[in-house]
Amino acid sequence: MVDMDLLKSCFTLSSLKLQVKLFDSLDSTNAEAKKQIIKGNKQDLLIVSSHQTAGRGRLDRTWFSPDGGLYFSLILKPRLGPESAPLTSLLCGVAVANGLQSIGIDHVRLKWPNDILVMEDKIAGILTELVSIDSLESWMILGIGINQNISITDFPDEIASRSTSVVRILERETSPESLLCPIINEIDRLFGIVETEQSFISILTSWKALSATLGRKVRIDDGTRVFKGYAEDLLDDGSLLILTENGRETVTMGDVTHLRSD
Ligand code: BTN
Repeated sequence: MVDMDLLKSCFTLSSLKLQVKLFDSLDSTNAEAKKQIIKGNKQDLLIVSSHQTAGRGRLDRTWFSPDGGLYFSLILKPRLGPESAPLTSLLCGVAVANGLQSIGIDHVRLKWPNDILVMEDKIAGILTELVSIDSLESWMILGIGINQNISITDFPDEIASRSTSVVRILERETSPESLLCPIINEIDRLFGIVETEQSFISILTSWKALSATLGRKVRIDDGTRVFKGYAEDLLDDGSLLILTENGRETVTMGDVTHLRSD
């Protein structure tokens, strides 16, 4: 369980004015975030749960959420338009990567759009959702799940071979605050950059430097079509530019598989 005092004492926030709610168990921190917005929450809010009984991933997948993992959702007040949601997700990916590096994890890379990998194995994921109370205001929910103190032998078979965890890599348990704090502080710092520069360009540069996807042969499933190509660039709106044998395609959402280049 996260220690509220310890958590608050390690925050160095300036852009986010964060309230914090801690739970022992929730169905999903994103679902709880949605409830809080509908109930009239009016502030930036961090919701953390020790485990989830119905953790959700992208594309309607489930997110394995036993005790030991780190599960949290950040509710952000409407300050950026809904069109910046994909860019804000990329910002969180950079923050999670930097947070993992700060506790000694090397070789952290980002897989478009929202996976955090160590070597080729997934260590964390991000689920971004928008909630509109009226047509004017869109609240952003950034849900982040990290395989922290979960033994690889506990993972379900279908994801075990493609997953890793902090405890597996460091060979010791770490406290939730030691990971949550640098990540939240980093999200805040990156938001400060976006506010100062009025642009996500610096975030995109950082994302590209951490990318495991750019320069790779990939298979794209965008929900309507499946095709292969070469991941050439990340565009200013956060979409992925793919060079295919029939020309260039822009991918704004979907599933990417990294292919071997031979
Ligand atoms: C993915 O890689 O598919 C995204 C996974 C996101 C999981 C996190 S855990 C905290 C938050 N609550 C959820 O139900 N999902 C996100």
